[in-house]
Amino acid sequence: MSDDISSIIDTLWTVLPRGGGRTIGLHEPEFGATERAYLLDCIDSTFVSSVGKYVDRFEQMLCDFTGAKRAVAVMNGTAALHIALQVAGVKTGDEVLVPDLTFIASANAVSYCGATPHFVDSNASTLGLDPEKVDRWLGETASVVDGVCRNKKTGARIAAVVPMHTFGHPVDLDALIDVAARWKLPIVEDAAESLGSYYKGKHTGRLGVMGVLSFNGNKTITTGGGGAVITDDVKLADRLKHLTTTAKVKHAWDFIHDEVGYNYRMPNLNAALGCAQMEKLPEFLAEKRALAAKYRAVFAGHPVAAFVDEPANSHSNFWLNVLLLRADKADLLPALLERTNAAGIGTRPVWTLMHKLPMYAHCPRMDVSTSEDLAHRLINVPSSAHLGRAHAA
Ligand SMILES: Cc1ncc(COP(=O)(O)O)c(C=O)c1O
Repeated sequence: MSDDISSIIDTLWTVLPRGGGRTIGLHEPEFGATERAYLLDCIDSTFVSSVGKYVDRFEQMLCDFTGAKRAVAVMNGTAALHIALQVAGVKTGDEVLVPDLTFIASANAVSYCGATPHFVDSNASTLGLDPEKVDRWLGETASVVDGVCRNKKTGARIAAVVPMHTFGHPVDLDALIDVAARWKLPIVEDAAESLGSYYKGKHTGRLGVMGVLSFNGNKTITTGGGGAVITDDVKLADRLKHLTTTAKVKHAWDFIHDEVGYNYRMPNLNAALGCAQMEKLPEFLAEKRALAAKYRAVFAGHPVAAFVDEPANSHSNFWLNVLLLRADKADLLPALLERTNAAGIGTRPVWTLMHKLPMYAHCPRMDVSTSEDLAHRLINVPSSAHLGRAHAA
């Protein structure tokens, strides 16, 4: 056991830079002169809050990069998910299909709508929602009547499906689009982790009706805290903008709000940081790809741990690189986490599965044995862009 762990750590050290005495973080943000200049510009202009030129500029940069017609920037990815689900029509009493293996925000956003997450299993290659299993499960538990998908057991409407592109690896979207169309489910993509990931050449978040991005400090680019909804549907985008800006009717001085809206606006300060980061995104992505190539090479043929590569038909941003322990070596995980972190290599396990959390234990779910298996064997390893830079390691 100890030899197995030493062999993984030794292999990681062939990729990672030694020395300095500090832990190599899992994903570290990187800022430079442009970030400073744009932030200072905000401060000097006094436009630090939700009005200012950087919000519009950041949204335009997101559109230019992803190819989406519209982007609506908000204060974080969780708020983006909430509002996207609401605009997709999710209502109190509905159920929404969500992967069991995901970050808590995917499920919480469903709860914020008064709906119930209905957990589905993952695919071992993509690590994301498995369309074939979902199709089979719906065949057993749901029916479509008058264009509405209903859970036959609970009687609830199943109102949407939320695929999540795990660690940047895209879900099998062609298959999911087909399943979702047959079961009358709008797709809202949780693309929080997949800025710069493509499925068959199209940016993730653009294959569903809406896609959600996160710019939290640990993401490929960061705005400090931030998120966005991207969509090709201009009407939906207008609705998203209205609802996330307190539903205020445009007027020079009157405060008229025509429905219950949200103050989910991204401040200009955060957007300024985002604009500077967007300028670096292509460079970050190239470096992250180079880092992934190093991990792929050194773990090829490793007896205990395999590098989880990008799935077929996709181009991943490799947000977080991930290793999968051999099935009969799953019990190494706790000690491997202990020892890598003690050695100064920032690693972490995947999230506790949603159905194991107290507030979601009662929710409907299918057999989630692949998610259970993956959760016992996956480990994230340091993935910052600078680790892939030519002079690193
Ligand atoms: C899969 C997933 N969904 C949603 C979010 C929520 O984003 P935020 O932290 O910006 O609220 C995150 C990241 O934090 C995430 O990883």
